Amino acid sequence: MNEPAAVRFFHVWDTYAKVVAANYMYHQEIGQAIKAALRARFGGRAFTVLDLGCGDAATFAPLLEGFDVKNYLGADLSEAALALARQNLSGLACPVVLTQADLMSELESAEPHDLIYVSFALHHLTTAQKAEFFRVAAQKLAPGGLLLVADVVREEGQNLPDYLEGYTNYLTEVMVTLEPSEREAIREHITGFDLPEPCSVLQKQAEDRGLRMLDVAAPHKWHRLLAFAKA
Ligand SMILES: C[S@@+](CC[C@H](N)C(=O)[O-])C[C@H]1O[C@@H](n2cnc3c(N)ncnc32)[C@H](O)[C@@H]1O
Repeated sequence: MNEPAAVRFFHVWDTYAKVVAANYMYHQEIGQAIKAALRARFGGRAFTVLDLGCGDAATFAPLLEGFDVKNYLGADLSEAALALARQNLSGLACPVVLTQADLMSELESAEPHDLIYVSFALHHLTTAQKAEFFRVAAQKLAPGGLLLVADVVREEGQNLPDYLEGYTNYLTEVMVTLEPSEREAIREHITGFDLPEPCSVLQKQAEDRGLRMLDVAAPHKWHRLLAFAKA
C-alpha cells in the first residue's frame, strides 16, 4: 500500500520516541488521564479495543496493563509502525490484530467496540472528515463504550496560522534536546499536515452525533485528552 507523506514522517520513530521520552507532548499526563478514564468506565469489566492510527503502540500498550482487554485491533497506514506495534503489544494476553489501513476505512468496516481510541492521528483529517469520524464512531461504539481522543488542539479563538507559529516556537524553545535536523523534520510535518481544531469544535461534532463529553484531566492547552460516551 502507498503511504501518504503525512504518514512517511512517522518512519522516523526515533525522533517521535525522543519527543515522548522528554514528555514534550504531555504523554505522561495524558496517559494518567487515559488510565483513570478506563478505570472509571470499565472497572474490572473486560473490553474490546479499536486503536485507530495506532502507530508503534509504544505509549498505549503499557497503559493497558492490568486491564481485562478482550481483544485489540490496531490500524495504521505505516507498515514500519505496525511492525513495531506487534513487538510492543506482545505482552497483551488477548488476541491482537494489526492491519495496514486508513483509519476511517477501518472504523467503517469494524464491528462495534467497547473502546475506540485515536491518539495524535485525528488532527490529520479535515474539519469535514473529523465530523464524519464522529458520525461513524458514534455508530461503532458498543453500549457502555468509551471514545478516547488524545490529540493536539488549537486554543479557542486561535486560527491555524497562529497555532502553527506558536507550535513552531514551542518546538524551537522547548524541544531543545532534539537535533536541529529533527526539529526541522517535525516543523515540516506540522506545517504541512497538521489541522488541529479547538476542543469546542470536536465537542460539537461529537454531540451532534449523540455523544456526551466526559470530564477528564486536560493537561496542556495544545495537548489534550477528550473522552466521549453515548448520551
Ligand atoms: C503521532 S503518530 C501517533 C501514534 C500513536 N497513536 C501514539 O499516540 O503514539 C500518528 C500515527 O497516525 C498514523 N496515521 C496518520 N494518518 C492516518 C490515517 N489516515 N489512517 C491511519 N493511520 C494514520 C501515522 O502513520 C502514525 O503512525
